[in-house]
Order: sequence, then structure tokens, then C-alpha cells
Amino acid sequence: MDLTLPLPSDDASRTPSSGREPARSGRVLTSVRPAERVAGGLVRPLPAHLPVLSPTPVDGTGRAHGKAILIGEHAVVYGAAAIALPVPSVEAIAQVELLPAGSPGSLTSRLHTGPLATVPAELMPVAAAVHAAAIEVGLDPDRLHVRIDSEVPIGRGMGSSAAVAAAVVAAVADAAGRTLSPEVRHELIQESERVAHGNPSGLDARTVVADAPVRFLRRRPQGAVPVGAPVSFVIADSGVSASTAVAVATVRARREAAPAVIDGVIEELGALVDPVADALATGEAAALGAGMTRAHHLLREIGVSSPVLDDLVEAALGVGAAGAKLTGSGGGGCVLALARTPGSAGALAAALRAAGAPRTWTMTLPKTPDLLGGDA
Ligand code: MEV
Repeated sequence: MDLTLPLPSDDASRTPSSGREPARSGRVLTSVRPAERVAGGLVRPLPAHLPVLSPTPVDGTGRAHGKAILIGEHAVVYGAAAIALPVPSVEAIAQVELLPAGSPGSLTSRLHTGPLATVPAELMPVAAAVHAAAIEVGLDPDRLHVRIDSEVPIGRGMGSSAAVAAAVVAAVADAAGRTLSPEVRHELIQESERVAHGNPSGLDARTVVADAPVRFLRRRPQGAVPVGAPVSFVIADSGVSASTAVAVATVRARREAAPAVIDGVIEELGALVDPVADALATGEAAALGAGMTRAHHLLREIGVSSPVLDDLVEAALGVGAAGAKLTGSGGGGCVLALARTPGSAGALAAALRAAGAPRTWTMTLPKTPDLLGGDA
């Protein structure tokens, strides 16, 4: 039995073939990695890359993952469609403990440990997620200890803020023994995202909890996008952090200064979405890649690329990638490159690291299973 799932890996530090499953095996996540029983009675160790969490009993656990935007970032803010990909190997995990009465709410995370009431500015979105979720499920936010372990890199366009918010919302709901509807969960994540960057389209909030490519129109998810044949992408980190709020504000300012120019680019970005979705559905890497590369040039025109991102795109195309573009809000962050074939993804990742990317993640989107049972 092949237990390998065709999911991403952190190429620089992980074995690409690591299988993975949810680590939750009760209400306590231990510092000893448990083995996991899977279908057929086999036992396998949990993958080494999952964060090791506290041995303290917890009342609630939540998980979410990173994302990469395939097409339509920025244009989606102005009403155009977009498609984003879940990056399930890059996870955010939150744990919630209910504290005795009189204890101040607190946060443990890599960036800050201390009272929730006095978190630094960069953690305000987390405090907002805790507060909104606690109120929704009827818990006192001042009596929660929240611990966050996130692998989603911060400021790299991979949905860190949305993934952490989604994990926190899920953990708080779990602590209250509640299951939230997708729409309520989305609104709670969005409350946090609004603190993080003002006017989020909602694309990140949808994709960090999705298990298939998401097609999205502002405030209206349009369902999963079918994948006609396996396609492999490499996400390459530029090593430069950038703020989504700043990038979105840059585009807004440029649009105010030259509305016709920026609206023309936004329209062209939006017009790429159908051809890209069709190419994904038919598995035509060349057409998919062409749409991605065109999107990169359009994003550069609206001022959200950078020399480092342009160089990584050129490096990918130079070694035969089918297409490449910045992904996310830009200004820094990551490049998403499409391998011509799944077999060439490893060489593409190596080339991007040789071109200066401090790390890469490779992921293969599997073919969407046929809805009516395929060849059964
Ligand atoms: C950020 O990941 C994507 C943007 O389109 C902003 C948004 O959709 O809210 C730049």
C-alpha cells in the first residue's frame, strides 16, 4: 500500500515523500511523536516536520495551512476572480487551555509570550481571532491560554495571518465543544484578517482551510477547481518579508493616481482566470504556465514585484519552468513556479535555490477524483 500523499514538502529540510495525517490523537499533543494507526492496520510514525507541541493537556486544538495564489492576487481586491492553492504541508497549529477564574488570558508563541491584553502590534490579529471566536462560542476570552506553533512563514505571501487565525478559531471552538459552520468560521477569520491588513478579499481565509484549489470572487467562493492531471509547483522564498497591507495600499494609491491604467491591468489579470482554470482542468502545463508568467508581468506593472522576485521568475523560466510568477501580495515573499512535468520539479527547486532562494517547497496537485466514480 502506498501511504505517500502527493503533498508539498520543505525541500531544503524534508523528505519529499513524507506521508502525513492529522496529528491529533486525543486532547493532548505530546512531546513524544506518537505512531499513528492508518487504514489497513499499519502503524507509521508521524512525520518529523510536524511541530512538537506542549505536553500540557489542552482543551482545544485547531489546525490550518498555508496557501499560494495561482492567479488573481490584487485584482481580487477589486472584484476580479482568483484561484488559490492550499499548501497543506506548511501548517499552523493552535492549542487552547481554559484557565481558572481570575487568570489573565495569555499567549505563547514564537513572537511573544505574555498576557493577551498586551500583545505587540504584529500579534493584534491573533488577539482579535481569540476574542471573536471566544465570544462566538460563549467562552470568556480573558480565561484562555492560547499557544501557537506555526510553520507558515511570516510576510512571505503564504497566508500566515489567515492560517494562524483559522487555527485559533478552530481551537477555541474545539475548547467549547462547538462545530462552526464554514460561513461563521470564515467571518471569524476575516475579523482577524481585517486587523492584519485592513481590507482582505477573503481569498486567504478560504484557502487556508481548503483541501483543493479554490476559485474565488470577492466574498463569494466559487468552489473547488478541478485538476485534470497532476501538476507540480515549486514555491521559492525570496528571503524578503513584505507587508500585505503595504502592497495593497500601494496598488490602491496607484489606482487613485492612474485609474484607467491600473483598472486595465486588473481587468487583464481577471481575464486570465478562466484560461488558467481551463488549463488546470485539462492538465495543460504550457497553457497554465503561460497564464502565470503573464500574470507576473502584469503584477510588475502595478508595482508589486521586486528585482529579487523578477530574478527568481527569470531563473525558473531559464531552466524550463512552464511558467512562474510572484505569489501573494508581492514586494517580497515568494515566487510560484510550475514544473513542466512532475518529474522535473526537483531540478526546478534546486535551480531556484541555486538562484538564491533560501528555501523552496514542492507540491503536486493530484488529479481530481472523478465525481461519479471514475472507471468503477
Ligand atoms: C494576499 O494574499 C492577496 C491579496 O490579493 C490581498 C487580498 O486578497 O486580500 C494581495
